[in-house]
Amino acid sequence: MKTNKPSENSKERVFIFDTTLRDGEQAPGASLNTEEKMKVAVQLEKLGVDIIEAGFPAASPGDFEAVNHIAKALKKTVIAGLSRAMRKDIDACAKALKPAKRMRIHTFISSSDIHLKHLFRKSREEAIHAVNDAVKYARNFTDDVEFSAQDASRSELDYLCRMIEAAIKSGATTVNVPDTVGYAVPEQYGEMVAYLRNHVPNINKAIISVHCHNDLGLAVSNSMAAIKNGARQVECTINGIGERAGNASLEEIAMILDTRGDIYPYFTKINGREIYKTSRLVSTLTGFMIQPNKAIVGSNAFAHESGIHQDGMLKYRQNYEIMTPESIGVPESRLVLGKHSGRHAFKKRLEDLGYNLSPEAIDSLFAKFKDLSDKKKSVYDEDIEALIEEKVAASEEIYHLVYLHTTAGSTTTPTATVKLMMAGKEIQEAATGDGPVDAVVNAIDRVTGFKGKVENYNLKALTQGRDAQGEVTLTVTTNGDEANGRGVSTDVIEASAKAYLNAVNKLLLKHKTKSAKAAFDIQKGLKL
Ligand code: KIV
Ligand code: ZN
Repeated sequence: MKTNKPSENSKERVFIFDTTLRDGEQAPGASLNTEEKMKVAVQLEKLGVDIIEAGFPAASPGDFEAVNHIAKALKKTVIAGLSRAMRKDIDACAKALKPAKRMRIHTFISSSDIHLKHLFRKSREEAIHAVNDAVKYARNFTDDVEFSAQDASRSELDYLCRMIEAAIKSGATTVNVPDTVGYAVPEQYGEMVAYLRNHVPNINKAIISVHCHNDLGLAVSNSMAAIKNGARQVECTINGIGERAGNASLEEIAMILDTRGDIYPYFTKINGREIYKTSRLVSTLTGFMIQPNKAIVGSNAFAHESGIHQDGMLKYRQNYEIMTPESIGVPESRLVLGKHSGRHAFKKRLEDLGYNLSPEAIDSLFAKFKDLSDKKKSVYDEDIEALIEEKVAASEEIYHLVYLHTTAGSTTTPTATVKLMMAGKEIQEAATGDGPVDAVVNAIDRVTGFKGKVENYNLKALTQGRDAQGEVTLTVTTNGDEANGRGVSTDVIEASAKAYLNAVNKLLLKHKTKSAKAAFDIQKGLKL
């Protein structure tokens, strides 16, 4: 296909700063544990982002741990940590980022009068003083310091220029001007960036960055207007997740730059073929479903339904297609295997999907695949990926679901019996509930002695067809803590039980009580 893709040597680079693990994770219900953050970070490196904002180390011990683990593990990408313009935050950041090959300290304070007065309770001069102190202090730990003027888009422009000038003079190498509350519109936001370029005397010594929220649905448009006016770093998240209505979506920005090089002659180092996989991973781990009509990664983004469109596509794909599904890594053939497929075909499909597994792992997955193909006629890529994810989740279990039986109906009290395995022992309990899912949750709670509240319960079909597996994602909260769970099964009640247990296991492991850890070790031993 002919594209307008800019060639790297004739175009300017736009750096992609991914904040899925910081701003994205701040979205209510999106919280991830360290291991989940690690999986996302590894995938973001494969995707080719330039900077990963891994968290806000001073915010909580969990954030500190996650930033520190990611800093240790990743070798290519710059790892950033967020800090308020305060020495104690910067110390936490520097400590968490210490093992990183390439680190960035990202420090911020607000520049708008409304925030200075009602949030920070500082005068304009006091805020500039804090910026100077914070940036200079951060430079003791790294040459790569980013400064953000929070709520920049609602700030008085000349004061914003003074603050940015001060940050650069103190050593900031990237200056970020967020539209924190999603209030800006593209013309105005682009002009703001142009104004900074024309009125901040030392602006050429730093990269201008933008960070847009999506409250008016303009986060991507505002980011593009800013790029057009000189911004060379965009802060964004996978699937656009983030505070309130979210942040600018990484995949949309990357594909706009890729597809419309005639208007935006800039390039990024994003490997488009990893977009789909990254989007699915973030959706699965956060439990945030992607709307079917979401640009780039929605399930309908490349579906052509009307007869005229289908006919047009068959005659010449570019009649109705501006980019190909392959360019974002949507697997080419979606229908895969069935009951009669052998181990060889199964292994080949795993390899095509990017999994190179040991013969033992393939054997155990193949047995599960056979069970599944007894229950459903066509096994799709999504089903195979779910089997793999289930196997990974099983290695992190304290309680494992052995058996489940439910009764429900319009005139019966919903009842569930569950049998769980823990440390080699099988424990069975029964309970009633408001519905079959509630009954299952109550029965599981009886076994574990754990009482969690289920929030954000989502059920969707993993693939097409009446025999499709149900995928349940949910959040379990308890005493101010929370974890996401996911479960997949041809039986939606079983999928719900697995999802609930998945979240409960994470919470139990997180608190690492001695008995939970011992049970986990025994359980793990039983599975090896
Ligand atoms: O939205 C915002 O202003 C932020 C800053 C902390 C960068 O997230
Ligand atoms: Zn933000």
